[in-house]
Amino acid sequence: MNNARAIAPGKVILIGEHFVVGGQPAIAAAVEIEAQVTAELSSSKGIKVNSREYGEAFFALEDGKNGPLYPVYIAAREVLSIAGGSRGLNLTVESNIPRAAGMGSSAAVAVATAAATAKLLELELSLEKISEIAYRSETVVHGKPSGVDNTVSTYGGLIFYKKGAGFQRISCDVSPIRLVLADSGIERSTGAMVAKVLTLKESYPHILEHVYHAAGELAHSAKNALEEGDFFKVGQLMNINHGLLHAVGVSNAKLDSLVHAAREAGALGAKLTGAGGGGFVVALCWKEDAERVADALKNLAKQVLVTGISRQGVRLVESSSPLR
Ligand code: PMV
Repeated sequence: MNNARAIAPGKVILIGEHFVVGGQPAIAAAVEIEAQVTAELSSSKGIKVNSREYGEAFFALEDGKNGPLYPVYIAAREVLSIAGGSRGLNLTVESNIPRAAGMGSSAAVAVATAAATAKLLELELSLEKISEIAYRSETVVHGKPSGVDNTVSTYGGLIFYKKGAGFQRISCDVSPIRLVLADSGIERSTGAMVAKVLTLKESYPHILEHVYHAAGELAHSAKNALEEGDFFKVGQLMNINHGLLHAVGVSNAKLDSLVHAAREAGALGAKLTGAGGGGFVVALCWKEDAERVADALKNLAKQVLVTGISRQGVRLVESSSPLR
């Protein structure tokens, strides 16, 4: 085989980011915004990664050098070591998922890298294994990932996730709703935001324990509401979740202004999504209201995206498949 190509979706966390790192459940959804990785064999003794956004980097087979493309190398190297060989690889990354913005771009790229490299090497890896490889790559991006990003990017759909306990699929007809995503334009590091919340938790354990518990209750209630198709309730719970994220210090004036503008324009609920401090907010909307909410956010946000929840997780594709 000359080359193999895989696509994996980005994600949004609807409920429970940060609290999921502390063991509470979270709810995440795969979105119709994706990353694609093409893997080819090469005669070099190493892994070359080429990305539209980050340019090119070459890694020797046992390379420790860091940088934005290093996690991609880590995912491919894990697959190479399972295959038991030391082949040279060229990897080409094309992603429509905004980076460093809370939409799981690094996890999606790692998942697609693992799947494409495995196919190229004719290795049959289970989805569980692909997700695990992407998780290890994520630990390079930020030290303590909960695992929610690689899980939802691997399996797709809507998931209820608890660190260490795996995930459950949430069964819900998502056709009446859309997610409107608005970028604050502020880049931030997930690792730094996670560390900030953990420090606050250590400083005020008796107070934060209640906030974490409330977040867990929110996730359980939101799961039930999704299963009942009660999107009004899901929206309200997302609003409460934004309040909890504000309480642990990861919102800011820009994110709050986007959240309030979305609600005023008719969103069912809106909150920051992902690590916060910048990045995106997510607004849950009826399909027919989504464009109106998006229009209301356009003057405030760097970029506004409207997407559905995608059932599809990682998959191998023909070279002609379009990237969403
Ligand atoms: O902003 P993102 O897409 O990197 O998501 C981070 C989500 C956190 O809950 C803050 C961290 C994690 O590992 O779950």
